[in-house]
Amino acid sequence: MVTPSVTTGSKPTPDAATSGLEGIVVARTHLSDVDGQQGRLTIRGYSIEEIAGHATFEEVAYLLWHGSLPAGDQLLRFQSEIAALRTLPDETRAAVTVASRRMGPMDALRFGVASLTAGEAHADDESPEANLRIAMMLLARVPGIVALYERLREGNPAVEPRPDLSIAANYLYQLTGEEPTPATVRGLDTYLVTVADHGMNASTFTARVIASTAADMVSAVTGAIGALKGPLHGGAPGPALTMIEEIGTPDRAEAWMRDALAKKKRLMGFGHRVYKVRDPRAEVLYRAAEALADETGERTALDLAHEVERIGVQVLAEAKPGRNLNTNVEFYTALLLRELGLGQDLFTPTFAVGRTAGWTAHIMEQQAGGRLIRPQSEYDGPFDQRYAPVGQR
Ligand code: ACO
Repeated sequence: MVTPSVTTGSKPTPDAATSGLEGIVVARTHLSDVDGQQGRLTIRGYSIEEIAGHATFEEVAYLLWHGSLPAGDQLLRFQSEIAALRTLPDETRAAVTVASRRMGPMDALRFGVASLTAGEAHADDESPEANLRIAMMLLARVPGIVALYERLREGNPAVEPRPDLSIAANYLYQLTGEEPTPATVRGLDTYLVTVADHGMNASTFTARVIASTAADMVSAVTGAIGALKGPLHGGAPGPALTMIEEIGTPDRAEAWMRDALAKKKRLMGFGHRVYKVRDPRAEVLYRAAEALADETGERTALDLAHEVERIGVQVLAEAKPGRNLNTNVEFYTALLLRELGLGQDLFTPTFAVGRTAGWTAHIMEQQAGGRLIRPQSEYDGPFDQRYAPVGQR
C-alpha cells in the first residue's frame, strides 16, 4: 500500500515529515523487511542472524531470486552456472584498463558495469528468463571488475577467475592471486550475505526507478552503483575507518568526536534513516570481525572500535537528543573488510558485490508487477516571466 503524501486541493505537497521520502512506502516487496524500531532485518523470511555466517552468498542470492534456499543439487548447479559466466568481455576489460589509470574504484566499477551490455546480445530482453541470466552474469562479473581494476591499478598482472571457487573465494583469489583461507572466505561470505538486501535504501530505490521505465537490468544496476557511492549511503565505511584510526586510542575518542560534532561534521558509521536502535547488521559484522581477530590473535583494532562505538553513541545522544543515533552497518564493515585484507577504497565496491544480489532481485520484482515510478514535485518559483533578448537583460 502506498502512503499518501499531504494534499492541498489537487496538488500533493511535501511536508517536513516526508522530506527525503521519509516514511513513504513506494513498493510492496517480498524480498526483505527492515524493522527500525525493533532492529530486525528479515530476508525472505529469515532473520539476518539466522543466515549470515551460516549461508553462503550464492545461497542467499538464490533465495532472493527464487524465494527459497537451493535444495539438492540446485546449489551446485547454480554455483557452476555463475562460475561459467565470470570471464569479462573484451570491452569490459578495455574499460577497466582505462579506468585503472584514471578513475577511483567506484567510478571504475560504474564504468565497467555499464560496459557489460557489450557482451550481451539480449541485454534489452526483459523476459523473466533473460533477466535471471543477466542477474547471474552481473553477480558473476561485478567482483571480477573490482578485482581486475585493483590488480591493474597496483601494476600487477590480472588473475583469471577459477571456476572451482565460490564467489567470495574467487573474489579474494582474483584480488590477491592467492587462494584464501577458509576463515577469510567465511568472513567475506558473512559480509556479502549481511549486505545482500535491505528494503528500499537509496541505491535499491534508484534501481527500481530505472527498472520501472522498462529500461534494462544493466542500466538499473549502473544507476544503483552511482547512488551507492555517496558517503551518506555506501561510501561511509572508508571514512569510518579513518575516524577510528585518527582517534587512535580509546582515551582520545570522546574529545575527538565532540570536536567533530562541534565542527558540524557527521560521525561516520552512526545514524540511519530507518533504524532507531542499533542496526542488527552491526552485531553480525562485529561477531564476524571478532571471529577473524580470534584466529589471528590481533584484537587491538577491534577493541578500539568497540570503545569508539560506545562513546560515539553517548556523545551523539547528548549532541542530538531524541534522534536515536546508533551504530549502523558501515561501522564494523570497515573493521571486517580491513581484516580480510581489503584496502579502504575497496570497501564500497565490495558492498556493491553483495548488494548486486538485492538490486537484481528488486529489478526483477519491479518489472514483474510494478508501475512507472513517477512522483511529483512542488514548484515554488515564479510564473509568467517575459523573454528578453540577451542585450536587454
Ligand atoms: N553524526 C552526527 N549527526 C548526525 C548523524 C551522524 N552520523 N546522523 C544524523 N545526524 C543528525 C543530523 O545532523 C541531523 O541533525 P539536525 O536535525 O540537528 O541538523 C539529524 O541527526 C537528522 O539527520 P538527517 O540527515 O536528517 O537524517 P537521515 O535519516 O536523513 O540520515 C544518514 C541518515 C544519512 C545515514 C545519517 O545518519 C548520516 O549521515 N550518517 C553518517 C553517514 C553514514 O554512516 N552512512 C551510512 C548509512 S548505512 C547505509 O546506507 C548502508
